[in-house]
Amino acid sequence: MITAVVGIQFGDEGKGKIVDFLSSRYNYVVRFNGGRNAGHTVVVEDRKFKFHIVPSGALRTRNVVLGNGMVIDVNSLIEEIEMSKEINPGINVFLSNRAHVVTPLHKLLDKKEEDARGPSKIGTTFEGIGPAYEDKYARTGIRIEDLLSLDLMKEKLDLIRRMKSSLLGDDEPSPEEIDEMALKLHQDGLKLSKYITSTERTIHRSWEAGENILFEGANGSLLDIDYGIFPFVTSSNTIAGFISCGAGFSFRKVNNVIGVVKAYVSRVGAGPFPTELSGDIADKLREYGHEYGTTTGRPRRVGWLDIPALKYTMLLSDVDTLAVTNLDTLGLMDEIFIGEKYVIPGNEEEILDPDTRHLDKLGNFSVKLKPMKSWGEMNDSLKSEIIQSGREAFPHELAEYLSTIENMTGRKVGIISFGSGRKNTIIMDGFKVPETIG
Ligand code: IMP
Ligand code: MG
Repeated sequence: MITAVVGIQFGDEGKGKIVDFLSSRYNYVVRFNGGRNAGHTVVVEDRKFKFHIVPSGALRTRNVVLGNGMVIDVNSLIEEIEMSKEINPGINVFLSNRAHVVTPLHKLLDKKEEDARGPSKIGTTFEGIGPAYEDKYARTGIRIEDLLSLDLMKEKLDLIRRMKSSLLGDDEPSPEEIDEMALKLHQDGLKLSKYITSTERTIHRSWEAGENILFEGANGSLLDIDYGIFPFVTSSNTIAGFISCGAGFSFRKVNNVIGVVKAYVSRVGAGPFPTELSGDIADKLREYGHEYGTTTGRPRRVGWLDIPALKYTMLLSDVDTLAVTNLDTLGLMDEIFIGEKYVIPGNEEEILDPDTRHLDKLGNFSVKLKPMKSWGEMNDSLKSEIIQSGREAFPHELAEYLSTIENMTGRKVGIISFGSGRKNTIIMDGFKVPETIG
């Protein structure tokens, strides 16, 4: 079984939790886009693991792959591989020789670019993601395999320094500092050398052996560089189709696509957010859901579930099944709404059009909200009952919430999650996943 798991809102949908939950059923877990900007928190027996760069399957699967479509912060990668090995000593790591490297220069440039944008800041994670992808497409980028040659590293870093000199301004590193940076990266590269390989071949071999492969998307579909709400996006493609480019594995072989949806919406950074809440009600939802960025600690903006946006992102990745997370959090709200349609004077729109001009003309844009009944706090005994009997134990308001989502999107909810611990994620009857690998 070949499965893709992608976030279909603005990121932070809970992909890490879903991938961790599923990963013991897959031989390989593969990342194909993004870099250290992706923050995945996995909670196992009260221990919190914060991953940014290794796939969230790293605690349970046998093999993880970091594909060529990623941009890699090598220092973080070394740390996170060590952390994974503590829990999962048998893990094998495969790092694409052609993934690009995020260097300290890129992180500095990320800050400089945001400063230069002034009031039209994107609100990036400052992880160097944009500048690293810029260099990739400018064909000056540093690839993982380049780390192994100190001379090449010096040469390439110096080229980037010269090309970006005006942006770097007073902070432009001296030639000595560039050499030091090159040496440090080269040393990190040597530490990683045993993992470096042509990862598409690794994946193809696994496929030929009939194994199960799970592709884990980073960020959310509305942050996709092409299909998100530009320019308030990340610098890579985040939709499932990018597996072909970012891992070298054809999308035609993907059997099912799971779209991960938070039961409400959150967003970090700037940009349009149609169902955004403000005031006390937003503060409540943010506190209940601990909605602060994993990577940056920034408070997240929050709002109601946005069906027109989901319809759009589900089409982009041809989502088969939904995984709905954070249902326990949403239950704590006294009043719950679902954003059903967008209302533009004289017109109701069923599906998001991410054209920013379209979203901007919208002083008089509103969202038609459908009121839903709250299912209240999900205490331990309710959770245990649901873990045992699934759907049958649902409070009827929760059943109603999920069936409303299914009816509005035309897709079944196959997985739900109602707490951070691993046991609080369950598969709904009727949804087929591979058996756990012994
Ligand atoms: P960048 O990817 O750091 O360049 O940030 C671009 C935009 O994507 C900003 O709005 C970030 O807040 C957002 N973003 C990047 N990664 C994540 C993520 O993992 N979760 C949520 N938002 C993210
Ligand atoms: Mg995240």
